[in-house]
Amino acid sequence: MSSTPKAERPTARDFATVHDQPVIQRYTANERSNHWITAICFVLLALSGLALFHPAMFWLTALFGGGPWTRILHPFIGVVMFVSFMLLVIRFWHHNVMERGDVQWIRQIGDVLANREEKLPPIGRYNAGQKVLFWVMLASMLGLLLTGLVMWRAYFSHFFPVGVIRAASLLHAFFGFVIICSIIVHIYAAIWIKGAIRAMTQGWVTYAWARKHHAKWYGEVVERERSLARGRRE
Ligand code: HEM
Repeated sequence: MSSTPKAERPTARDFATVHDQPVIQRYTANERSNHWITAICFVLLALSGLALFHPAMFWLTALFGGGPWTRILHPFIGVVMFVSFMLLVIRFWHHNVMERGDVQWIRQIGDVLANREEKLPPIGRYNAGQKVLFWVMLASMLGLLLTGLVMWRAYFSHFFPVGVIRAASLLHAFFGFVIICSIIVHIYAAIWIKGAIRAMTQGWVTYAWARKHHAKWYGEVVERERSLARGRRE
Protein backbone atom coordinates (compact mmCIF):
# COMPACT_ATOMS: atom_id res chain seq x y z
CA MET A 1 0.00 0.00 0.00
CA SER A 2 1.51 3.34 -1.00
CA SER A 3 1.33 6.08 1.62
CA THR A 4 0.90 9.75 0.66
CA PRO A 5 2.98 12.33 2.64
CA LYS A 6 0.83 14.01 5.31
CA ALA A 7 0.88 17.48 3.69
CA GLU A 8 -0.32 16.09 0.34
CA ARG A 9 -2.99 13.75 1.70
CA PRO A 10 -6.24 14.62 -0.10
CA THR A 11 -8.85 16.34 2.01
CA ALA A 12 -12.26 17.80 1.30
CA ARG A 13 -10.96 21.23 2.39
CA ASP A 14 -10.21 22.51 -1.10
CA PHE A 15 -13.59 21.79 -2.62
CA ALA A 16 -16.96 23.45 -2.13
CA THR A 17 -19.95 24.62 -4.15
CA VAL A 18 -21.45 28.10 -4.44
CA HIS A 19 -24.90 28.34 -6.12
CA ASP A 20 -24.35 24.68 -7.09
CA GLN A 21 -21.19 25.60 -9.04
CA PRO A 22 -18.00 23.84 -7.96
CA VAL A 23 -15.41 26.26 -6.57
CA ILE A 24 -12.04 25.95 -4.88
CA GLN A 25 -11.63 27.05 -1.30
CA ARG A 26 -8.56 29.31 -1.11
CA TYR A 27 -8.92 30.56 2.48
CA THR A 28 -10.75 29.11 5.50
CA ALA A 29 -12.85 31.34 7.79
CA ASN A 30 -10.04 31.30 10.38
CA GLU A 31 -7.45 32.37 7.82
CA ARG A 32 -9.71 35.18 6.60
CA SER A 33 -10.46 36.46 10.12
CA ASN A 34 -6.75 36.34 10.92
CA HIS A 35 -5.97 38.34 7.75
CA TRP A 36 -8.61 41.02 8.31
CA ILE A 37 -7.70 41.51 12.00
CA THR A 38 -4.13 42.13 10.80
CA ALA A 39 -5.38 44.51 8.09
CA ILE A 40 -7.59 46.51 10.52
CA CYS A 41 -4.66 46.84 12.95
CA PHE A 42 -2.48 47.99 10.06
CA VAL A 43 -4.89 50.80 9.12
CA LEU A 44 -5.14 51.96 12.77
CA LEU A 45 -1.34 51.81 13.15
CA ALA A 46 -0.65 53.67 9.91
CA LEU A 47 -3.06 56.48 10.90
CA SER A 48 -1.84 56.77 14.51
CA GLY A 49 1.80 56.37 13.42
CA LEU A 50 1.52 59.17 10.85
CA ALA A 51 -0.22 61.35 13.49
CA LEU A 52 2.79 60.89 15.81
CA PHE A 53 5.37 61.17 13.01
CA HIS A 54 4.87 64.80 11.92
CA PRO A 55 3.00 67.82 13.33
CA ALA A 56 1.35 68.33 9.92
CA MET A 57 -0.53 65.05 10.52
CA PHE A 58 -1.22 65.58 14.23
CA TRP A 59 -4.89 66.24 13.44
CA LEU A 60 -5.25 62.47 12.88
CA THR A 61 -4.99 62.05 16.67
CA ALA A 62 -8.65 63.19 16.80
CA LEU A 63 -9.54 59.69 15.52
CA PHE A 64 -8.02 58.12 18.63
CA GLY A 65 -9.27 60.49 21.34
CA GLY A 66 -6.42 63.05 21.23
CA GLY A 67 -2.60 63.07 21.43
CA PRO A 68 -2.06 61.20 24.73
CA TRP A 69 -4.52 58.43 23.79
CA THR A 70 -2.87 58.03 20.39
CA ARG A 71 0.50 57.68 22.11
CA ILE A 72 -0.92 55.11 24.56
CA LEU A 73 -2.89 53.05 22.01
CA HIS A 74 -0.37 52.89 19.14
CA PRO A 75 2.10 50.43 20.76
CA PHE A 76 -0.66 48.17 22.13
CA ILE A 77 -2.30 47.92 18.68
CA GLY A 78 1.22 47.25 17.35
CA VAL A 79 1.60 44.23 19.63
CA VAL A 80 -1.82 42.90 18.53
CA MET A 81 -0.85 43.32 14.87
CA PHE A 82 2.50 41.62 15.43
CA VAL A 83 0.88 38.57 17.08
CA SER A 84 -1.86 38.41 14.43
CA PHE A 85 0.68 38.77 11.60
CA MET A 86 2.89 36.03 13.08
CA LEU A 87 -0.13 33.68 13.03
CA LEU A 88 -0.49 34.49 9.31
CA VAL A 89 3.21 33.75 8.88
CA ILE A 90 2.83 30.35 10.58
CA ARG A 91 -0.10 29.57 8.27
CA PHE A 92 1.43 30.76 4.98
CA TRP A 93 5.26 30.83 5.13
CA HIS A 94 5.63 27.46 3.40
CA HIS A 95 3.66 28.74 0.39
CA ASN A 96 6.09 31.67 0.08
CA VAL A 97 9.39 29.82 -0.29
CA MET A 98 11.12 31.01 -3.48
CA GLU A 99 11.44 28.43 -6.27
CA ARG A 100 13.24 28.28 -9.62
CA GLY A 101 10.21 29.51 -11.62
CA ASP A 102 9.98 32.59 -9.38
CA VAL A 103 13.29 34.00 -10.65
CA GLN A 104 11.96 33.60 -14.19
CA TRP A 105 8.72 35.40 -13.16
CA ILE A 106 10.79 38.33 -11.84
CA ARG A 107 12.86 38.40 -15.06
CA GLN A 108 9.60 38.59 -17.03
CA ILE A 109 8.14 41.42 -14.95
CA GLY A 110 7.40 43.25 -18.25
CA ASP A 111 5.01 40.43 -19.25
CA VAL A 112 3.44 40.54 -15.76
CA LEU A 113 2.73 44.27 -16.02
CA ALA A 114 1.41 43.93 -19.57
CA ASN A 115 -0.98 41.12 -18.49
CA ARG A 116 0.73 38.56 -20.78
CA GLU A 117 0.17 35.80 -18.22
CA GLU A 118 0.31 33.04 -20.87
CA LYS A 119 4.04 33.79 -21.34
CA LEU A 120 4.88 33.29 -17.65
CA PRO A 121 6.02 30.04 -16.03
CA PRO A 122 3.13 28.20 -14.26
CA ILE A 123 2.56 29.87 -10.88
CA GLY A 124 2.01 27.99 -7.62
CA ARG A 125 -0.26 29.20 -4.81
CA TYR A 126 1.49 32.59 -4.81
CA ASN A 127 3.52 34.40 -7.49
CA ALA A 128 7.04 35.72 -6.94
CA GLY A 129 5.75 39.27 -6.33
CA GLN A 130 3.48 38.05 -3.53
CA LYS A 131 6.34 36.01 -2.07
CA VAL A 132 8.79 38.95 -2.08
CA LEU A 133 6.13 41.15 -0.43
CA PHE A 134 5.52 38.47 2.20
CA TRP A 135 9.19 38.43 3.26
CA VAL A 136 9.46 42.24 3.12
CA MET A 137 6.38 42.46 5.39
CA LEU A 138 7.93 39.96 7.81
CA ALA A 139 11.27 41.82 7.93
CA SER A 140 9.46 45.16 8.45
CA MET A 141 7.25 43.72 11.20
CA LEU A 142 10.27 42.37 13.09
CA GLY A 143 12.04 45.73 12.66
CA LEU A 144 8.96 47.65 13.84
CA LEU A 145 8.53 45.42 16.90
CA LEU A 146 12.17 45.64 18.04
CA THR A 147 12.54 49.39 17.46
CA GLY A 148 9.05 50.01 18.88
CA LEU A 149 9.88 48.22 22.13
CA VAL A 150 13.06 50.32 22.54
CA MET A 151 10.95 53.48 22.11
CA TRP A 152 8.07 52.38 24.40
CA ARG A 153 8.57 54.92 27.16
CA ALA A 154 6.02 53.49 29.60
CA TYR A 155 7.76 50.12 29.90
CA PHE A 156 11.10 49.72 28.14
CA SER A 157 12.92 52.87 26.99
CA HIS A 158 14.53 53.53 30.41
CA PHE A 159 16.65 50.39 29.79
CA PHE A 160 18.38 52.04 26.80
CA PRO A 161 20.76 55.02 26.36
CA VAL A 162 19.31 58.02 24.53
CA GLY A 163 21.46 57.38 21.44
CA VAL A 164 19.90 53.92 21.01
CA ILE A 165 16.38 55.35 21.44
CA ARG A 166 17.11 58.00 18.77
CA ALA A 167 18.46 55.36 16.35
CA ALA A 168 15.40 53.18 17.09
CA SER A 169 12.98 56.02 16.31
CA LEU A 170 14.71 56.68 12.98
CA LEU A 171 14.62 52.98 12.06
CA HIS A 172 11.00 52.68 13.26
CA ALA A 173 10.00 55.41 10.79
CA PHE A 174 12.02 53.64 8.05
CA PHE A 175 10.32 50.25 8.63
CA GLY A 176 6.94 52.01 8.88
CA PHE A 177 7.58 53.65 5.49
CA VAL A 178 8.59 50.29 3.94
CA ILE A 179 5.52 48.45 5.26
CA ILE A 180 3.10 51.22 4.21
CA CYS A 181 4.56 51.15 0.66
CA SER A 182 4.41 47.32 0.62
CA ILE A 183 0.76 47.26 1.72
CA ILE A 184 -0.15 49.89 -0.90
CA VAL A 185 1.34 47.54 -3.55
CA HIS A 186 -0.44 44.56 -1.87
CA ILE A 187 -3.83 46.34 -2.02
CA TYR A 188 -3.23 47.52 -5.61
CA ALA A 189 -2.41 43.94 -6.70
CA ALA A 190 -5.45 42.58 -4.81
CA ILE A 191 -7.74 45.00 -6.69
CA TRP A 192 -5.93 44.47 -10.02
CA ILE A 193 -6.41 40.67 -10.01
CA LYS A 194 -10.22 40.42 -10.20
CA GLY A 195 -11.52 37.71 -7.86
CA ALA A 196 -8.62 37.99 -5.35
CA ILE A 197 -10.58 40.17 -2.90
CA ARG A 198 -13.48 37.70 -2.99
CA ALA A 199 -11.00 34.94 -2.15
CA MET A 200 -10.09 36.83 1.02
CA THR A 201 -13.67 37.92 1.89
CA GLN A 202 -15.69 34.80 0.94
CA GLY A 203 -12.91 32.23 0.80
CA TRP A 204 -13.41 30.75 -2.66
CA VAL A 205 -12.17 31.13 -6.23
CA THR A 206 -13.47 29.69 -9.49
CA TYR A 207 -11.60 26.93 -11.31
CA ALA A 208 -11.03 29.39 -14.21
CA TRP A 209 -9.46 31.95 -11.80
CA ALA A 210 -7.11 29.35 -10.37
CA ARG A 211 -6.11 28.07 -13.84
CA LYS A 212 -5.51 31.60 -15.20
CA HIS A 213 -3.55 33.09 -12.28
CA HIS A 214 -2.03 30.09 -10.46
CA ALA A 215 -1.80 27.24 -13.00
CA LYS A 216 0.59 25.10 -10.94
CA TRP A 217 -1.57 25.42 -7.79
CA TYR A 218 -4.64 24.62 -9.92
CA GLY A 219 -2.89 21.43 -11.12
CA GLU A 220 -2.16 20.42 -7.52
CA VAL A 221 -5.76 21.08 -6.42
CA VAL A 222 -7.19 19.08 -9.35
CA GLU A 223 -4.76 16.23 -8.62
CA ARG A 224 -5.90 16.19 -4.95
CA GLU A 225 -9.52 16.23 -6.11
CA ARG A 226 -8.87 13.20 -8.36
CA SER A 227 -7.21 11.22 -5.59
CA LEU A 228 -10.08 12.14 -3.26
CA ALA A 229 -12.59 10.85 -5.85
CA ARG A 230 -10.48 7.67 -6.33
CA GLY A 231 -10.44 7.19 -2.54
CA ARG A 232 -14.26 7.51 -2.43
CA ARG A 233 -14.70 4.90 -5.20
CA GLU A 234 -12.35 2.37 -3.57
C1 HEM B 1 -5.67 46.69 4.18
C2 HEM B 1 -6.12 46.09 3.13
C3 HEM B 1 -5.72 44.73 2.63
C4 HEM B 1 -6.30 44.14 1.56
C5 HEM B 1 -7.41 44.72 0.68
C6 HEM B 1 -5.70 42.84 1.41
C7 HEM B 1 -6.06 41.91 0.47
C8 HEM B 1 -5.56 40.63 0.34
C9 HEM B 1 -6.01 39.64 -0.59
C10 HEM B 1 -7.12 39.83 -1.61
C11 HEM B 1 -5.27 38.52 -0.43
C12 HEM B 1 -5.40 37.20 -1.20
C13 HEM B 1 -4.40 37.14 -2.34
C14 HEM B 1 -4.43 35.80 -3.04
O1 HEM B 1 -5.05 34.86 -2.55
O2 HEM B 1 -3.78 35.66 -4.11
C15 HEM B 1 -4.34 38.79 0.64
C16 HEM B 1 -3.40 37.90 1.11
C17 HEM B 1 -2.51 38.17 2.13
N1 HEM B 1 -2.40 39.35 2.84
FE1 HEM B 1 -3.56 41.00 2.60
N2 HEM B 1 -4.74 42.67 2.36
C18 HEM B 1 -4.70 43.81 3.13
C19 HEM B 1 -3.85 44.04 4.20
C20 HEM B 1 -2.87 43.18 4.63
C21 HEM B 1 -1.94 43.45 5.71
C22 HEM B 1 -1.91 44.74 6.51
C23 HEM B 1 -1.14 42.37 5.82
C24 HEM B 1 0.03 42.14 6.75
C25 HEM B 1 0.83 43.06 7.21
C26 HEM B 1 -1.55 41.41 4.83
C27 HEM B 1 -0.96 40.16 4.66
C28 HEM B 1 -1.38 39.22 3.75
C29 HEM B 1 -0.79 37.91 3.60
C30 HEM B 1 0.38 37.36 4.42
C31 HEM B 1 -1.50 37.26 2.59
C32 HEM B 1 -1.26 35.85 2.04
C33 HEM B 1 -0.35 36.00 0.84
C34 HEM B 1 1.00 35.39 1.05
O3 HEM B 1 1.19 34.60 1.99
O4 HEM B 1 1.93 35.71 0.24
N3 HEM B 1 -2.60 41.93 4.14
N4 HEM B 1 -4.54 40.08 1.09
